[in-house]
Formats: sequence, C-alpha cells, structure tokens
Amino acid sequence: MEDKQDKTKRLSVYLPEKVKAELERMADDTGLSMTQLIVMATQGLLANYSAQGGAIFADLLSARHRIFEEVKEKQVLLEVEKQNMQAYYGARAEEYERIYHREDAEYQQELALLSDIIKRQVDGRRVLEIACGTGYWSQIAAEAATQLVGVDIRPEVLHIAESKPWPKGNATFIEGDAYELPEIGGEFDYGLANFWFSHIPRNRIDSFLQGFHERLGSGAQVFIADNVYVPGRGGELITLEDSEDTYKRRELADGSKHEILKNYFSYDELTDIFKPISQHLRIFVGGSFWYVCYTVK
Ligand SMILES: C[S@@+](CC[C@H](N)C(=O)[O-])C[C@H]1O[C@@H](n2cnc3c(N)ncnc32)[C@H](O)[C@@H]1O
Repeated sequence: MEDKQDKTKRLSVYLPEKVKAELERMADDTGLSMTQLIVMATQGLLANYSAQGGAIFADLLSARHRIFEEVKEKQVLLEVEKQNMQAYYGARAEEYERIYHREDAEYQQELALLSDIIKRQVDGRRVLEIACGTGYWSQIAAEAATQLVGVDIRPEVLHIAESKPWPKGNATFIEGDAYELPEIGGEFDYGLANFWFSHIPRNRIDSFLQGFHERLGSGAQVFIADNVYVPGRGGELITLEDSEDTYKRRELADGSKHEILKNYFSYDELTDIFKPISQHLRIFVGGSFWYVCYTVK
C-alpha cells in the first residue's frame, strides 16, 4: 500500500530569479497563485508526456551535450567553493575564536543563551558535533554530555580542539566530511551543528539534513545555530544574479582575501526547511544569532 506521507512530500524547486519574476507577473495578470500555475504547468507536462512520450524532450535531448557541460561546470564550481571555504578555515584556525569575544552586550547575551540551552539539553547525551572547528562549542557541550565526537574537515582546527583541556576525558575528534557521515563510527542521540549551516549550498541542505538525521536516528535531539545577517558585520555581502547562494568577502590577519559561501535565513525559511522533517521544533531568531532545536522524526 502506498504510504500516505509520500503523497504530501515537500518538493523544493529552485527557480532562477528571472523565471520567478515572470511567474510572479503571470500570477498578477491571471489572479492565480504561483503554486497553482506551477501545478498547472506540471499537469500540462504530464499530459503531454503521456500523449507523446519522450519525443517531447527532443529539443532538450539535442541540447544534451550543452546541458551536461553546464552541469559539469556547476559541479566543478561547487567543488572549488568547498575547497575555498575549507582552505579559509584552515588558514583562520588560530584567529577563529576571536569572533566570540566581540564587545557587544546583546551579542554576548545571545551567545550565553545558546550555551545555556546546549548545556541543559546535552545532559547525559552522546553528542555528534558537525564542523566542530576549534572546539568552542564542544567544550561547552562536553561539560554536561556523556560523550562527544567532533567532526571537522580541517586538521588545523582539530589540533586546536584536541589541545584544549577535556577534564572528563569524554571528547574525541575526527577528521571527516559533514556530507559523508556514515563513515563516522559510534552511536549518538544528540546532534550539534553550530555555524556550519550557513556554509551549506542551498541545493545541498536537504541531503545534508537527511544524512545527519540518518546518522543520528529517529528520536535524537538536534541543535543548530548560526548568524543572523547584520550589515557591516563579518565582511561585505555578495549576491550574484544567477545564484541562490550568497557570499561574504573576508580578510584574515595575514592580509589574505577570501570569498566564502555564507547564506542567511529568515524565520519563515527556517520553518520551511525544518518543519517537515522534525518534531517539537523551536525556532529563535535574535539580533545576532538564530537557532533551531527539535527531535528527529
Ligand atoms: C564557521 S566554522 C564553525 C566552527 C565551530 N562549529 C564553531 O561554531 O565555532 C565552520 C567549520 O566548518 C568546517 N568545514 C568546512 N567544510 C566542512 C565539511 N565539508 N565537513 C566538515 N567540516 C567542514 C571548517 O573547517 C570550519 O571549522
């Protein structure tokens, strides 16, 4: 029997800005909603396909080579972006934690709020921390957790994390990729990922979360926090016409310049992403940080 849930599965589709603008215009002209127009277009496509079969894609197929080339180019670009970001955090390892010492009362208050919630939630839990960096949040979590495994792709930051004091001897660090979590051993019932989510390309968010949740298992608790966009803070924001991702231009103490993929999310976007895949979802969007915490479905 078909699973009822499958019928209502959320389908996220990225539409280029130009297509979205034209669709909006059509919605204004016709009085139909954008969703109705998309559903009608899909039904038209399906009817056409059932009448004529794959022939309707003839034009597309003849342009296959070009499309393959474009996809390949996009994949190379994504890989370059990934490498850029990783190299940036490798180079930034020594100076990374300076961000947490910002002299700003509201910023420090929100930072303390995140720490308090994490400490309370991880009590007695086995924590898998994604992109743990220099172990700033690992230290906070390991105070109350039974066990913590921190994963990061850069050895430079892991060396710093490992060299910190771990009075309970309950923290270990592993070099690994956030997108390849099955390779990380251990059993966990708490997932922590701070200041990592903003670096995920939007078209990889669903697959990252799916891998994260699969690794944790149903019933595990998750806490994810990241930055709210504050103009003038953390480098210049770069938006590109044909990209759904945004970037930050940053300079390190050695004068090196970097462009890093960094996305920002509104309350509604966070709801859209996390609501369908969670239970007991709580979302907070403050002046400096946002967080979500929930139970894996
Ligand atoms: C903004 S830092 C956050 C560090 C730490 N979670 C914190 O909040 O202090 C982002 C981290 O993501 C790590 N990273 C980048 N790409 C990664 C990947 N594919 N898998 C795991 N870690 C990655 C970087 O090395 C860096 O330490």
